[in-house]
Amino acid sequence: MAKKKIGLIGAGNIGGELANLLVAKQLGDVVLFDIAAKENFAKGKALDLEQSTALSGSDIRVTGTSNWEDLAGADVLIITAGIPRKPGQSRDDLVMMNLPIIRDVADNAKKHCPNAFAIIVSNPLDAMVYEYWRRTGAPAAKVVGMAGVLDSARFSLFLARELNASIKDIRAMVLGGHGDDMVPVLSNCTITGVPIQKLLPQDKLTSIVDRTRKGGGEIVNLMGTSAFYAPAASAIAMAEAFLLDQKRLLPCAAYLNGEYGFKDLYMGVPVVIGQGGVEKILTIELTTDEKGMLKKSADSVQKVVDIVKAQAG
Ligand SMILES: NC(=O)c1ccc[n+]([C@@H]2O[C@H](COP(=O)([O-])OP(=O)(O)OC[C@H]3O[C@@H](n4cnc5c(N)ncnc54)[C@H](O)[C@@H]3O)[C@@H](O)[C@H]2O)c1
Repeated sequence: MAKKKIGLIGAGNIGGELANLLVAKQLGDVVLFDIAAKENFAKGKALDLEQSTALSGSDIRVTGTSNWEDLAGADVLIITAGIPRKPGQSRDDLVMMNLPIIRDVADNAKKHCPNAFAIIVSNPLDAMVYEYWRRTGAPAAKVVGMAGVLDSARFSLFLARELNASIKDIRAMVLGGHGDDMVPVLSNCTITGVPIQKLLPQDKLTSIVDRTRKGGGEIVNLMGTSAFYAPAASAIAMAEAFLLDQKRLLPCAAYLNGEYGFKDLYMGVPVVIGQGGVEKILTIELTTDEKGMLKKSADSVQKVVDIVKAQAG
């Protein structure tokens, strides 16, 4: 069986960790792409990683490039091209900086690897994935945004630590847009099937929900730039679900055409990812409160999408 080809668009902090995980998991050969001014940086990172395979025994090849032709035939693209946040910035503050970047990436992806399953990571996430989908004209099943897996990972970790439980036993999901009004879904959250609301008092849950919503900002304030280990691991879970046809149920930004009452919008919902890409959007029961929070989050996403739509191009 031919090895899969995975293109990483953006060879920065997340791009490098994505490559590292792909080499470790041997999911396919990796092409690490960045702009011409950073081609040598991409090549250097690729070479460094390839040399590590002498110790790990991984048969994965890693190349660095700034030439889109090297991405031809990619099965998966993971797109982290763009500027990350600095302390004091919201994700939405990045929209005008990252819009021309995602448009450039979309145009080249459409030309050179039109059949790739595209996982967008660049912020502001929901607006960037919408624009990538609109601009490429790719089927919605082949374009998805990474946010919910990461936000759910953060939510799960905070719950596990508060409960002094194993992270393995937490089942938690965060839906909505990738902003401060994201929706950690307490009504469906369990520890091995036991409802979390039976195990923790409301005030503890409220502070965990709040910390989850600000989870990205907490790290930006500590490091001066965005998180990258957990974001990379989250995007890899999605890529793996596609490449290995795992049919995993993951919260991802997917194109909504009436689901949950929203139309023509990308936002975080539970989806099944398998070899067809986004194979299904699952509609789960939410409380009245959660539905209200989801609507508020969708309104925030729509505002940023409207800014994007107002920019000709
Ligand atoms: N969705 C999420 O949950 C999530 C989480 C963390 C970070 N992010 C976002 O991911 C993005 C990347 O973060 P990072 O920490 O890796 O940033 P980084 O600055 O380390 O890397 C970004 C890379 O993109 C490259 N780039 C810029 N324009 C490009 C283009 N046109 N084509 C190809 N590459 C281009 C840059 O040269 C840089 O190397 C940011 O927008 C950040 O906000 C999203």
